[in-house]
Amino acid sequence: MWPDDRIRTLFGIDLPIFQAPMAGVVDSKMVIAVAEAGGLGSLPCALLDAAALRAEVETIRRATSRPINLNFFCHTTPQHDAAREAEAEWKARLETYYVELGVDPRAPFAGASRSPFDEELCDLVVELAPQVVSFHFGLPEARLLERVKKARAKIISSATTVAEARWLEDRGCDAIIAQGSEAGGHRGMFLHDDVATQVGTMALVPQVVDAVKVPVIASGGIADARGIVASFALGASAVQIGTAFLFCPEAKVSPPYRRALESSRDDSTTLTNVFTGRPARSIMNRVVREAGPISPLAPPFPLAAGALAPLRAVAEANGSVDFTPLWAGQASKLGLALPAGELTRRLAAEALRMLSARHR
Ligand SMILES: Cc1cc2nc3c(=O)[nH]c(=O)nc-3n(C[C@H](O)[C@H](O)[C@H](O)COP(=O)(O)O)c2cc1C
Repeated sequence: MWPDDRIRTLFGIDLPIFQAPMAGVVDSKMVIAVAEAGGLGSLPCALLDAAALRAEVETIRRATSRPINLNFFCHTTPQHDAAREAEAEWKARLETYYVELGVDPRAPFAGASRSPFDEELCDLVVELAPQVVSFHFGLPEARLLERVKKARAKIISSATTVAEARWLEDRGCDAIIAQGSEAGGHRGMFLHDDVATQVGTMALVPQVVDAVKVPVIASGGIADARGIVASFALGASAVQIGTAFLFCPEAKVSPPYRRALESSRDDSTTLTNVFTGRPARSIMNRVVREAGPISPLAPPFPLAAGALAPLRAVAEANGSVDFTPLWAGQASKLGLALPAGELTRRLAAEALRMLSARHR
């Protein structure tokens, strides 16, 4: 028996385990495997255009009728002129790398493409009718949010502080993801930008649980059954796990990224803004060490990725991840290379065993 059934009941899932949406590395394959195992599979949509999103959801729907989550970013796109200037300064900071790797610094690069949730994506969500829609970086404008609600999707978003959790609850979220600072990938922070005050999962979850009435999903540094049991002890009703799913064969992780994950330790990661302009947790590599980890020159999200893209492409072609974001959380060492469905079932079974042993 799970100590809290609110999320299982609210979302119609068997297991209170969410596979985190992870843009660029998770596709329909992993979502299907987790959904079929009884957890909540989450499709990251930040890097998909409407046609690709539709195709992914059609693939999922052919394989499973279980609940799924579609995940979107809802950042504000930076203003054109100021953004251009900031991008140019960033490129100048990176120029020595262009010279070293033989990339022409005058050659134009494709802009960073991470689209925020907009009218077109909202139309598509209404049509595709997922059971859950999750947002990162706050929520979209009220008009769009209302349409998602009317389409009967449950709405969740990440909070990194109690103030953000209250803000999300006030705007109608059905549940709140408490994203501790251990988490891999982008901080969901949206009411402030001070990374130094970001809160760890152990401290954040119980304070968010005390502050809101809706159920809370613990996230950040949870990679095995011990983390799941601890999350329930802190008052969470479910967990959202990211990094541990990167070890699954379904994850689209390049061989050097996989090697970096496999050889990572508790202190291998840091919060950095050099890859996109927003703070995110990555395994440290050359560009993080030399240009960051937090650079005042990194242009606003998602623009920092643009000037890095040619460097990343050349380095990766040479088998190097010196310029590649290696998103990972602080518990990456605990990951197991199991198929995603098996991992979901194993995490749940071990957590249930530990929970029942506590009551004996
Ligand atoms: C590779 C990677 C990519 C991520 N991409 C997204 C994303 O697209 N959308 C999102 O809401 N969260 C994203 N996250 C953050 C996760 O939702 C979650 O907060 C985090 O993985 C939890 O911490 P853990 O990695 O320690 O399990 C990403 C995390 C990782 C590791």
